Amino acid sequence: MAELFRWSREFNVGIAPIDEQHVELVGLLNRLHAAVREQRGVEAVRDALDELVACTLNHFADEERLMSQARYPAYAEHRIHHEALTAQVRALQRRLESGETTISFELLDFLRVWLMRHIGESDRRFGEWYHREGAGRAGESPWWCFWK
Ligand SMILES: [Fe+2]
Repeated sequence: MAELFRWSREFNVGIAPIDEQHVELVGLLNRLHAAVREQRGVEAVRDALDELVACTLNHFADEERLMSQARYPAYAEHRIHHEALTAQVRALQRRLESGETTISFELLDFLRVWLMRHIGESDRRFGEWYHREGAGRAGESPWWCFWK
């Protein structure tokens, strides 16, 4: 069965640690999709969603740290995008916890489209800017030097 989101190199933004995290996020989204599609049960679906959300939040924090270190001019706007999705997935987690909802294919598709657009447009714009102007400003110790 086809993956929900097939990664391809066109999604690379050219900043290795960010690209690695994006690949991981896409893998977790595909895992969530598989859990729903194969009806593995509420627990398995919830675990997959929790892992995807935790990984996404870490990723957003890392990306924002780099943007702020590099003094990215569109940092505030980018952060608003992250916060909007974070609020949506947290609300979803609460509704799942209370049994009010289940994960639908429409929702999975919403996450796929969100991620594709965000990586392909907003993160790519950041990657281009970073290579043009930001890398020098991020200093000698960008966040991944602490992280490794
Ligand atoms: Fe982002």
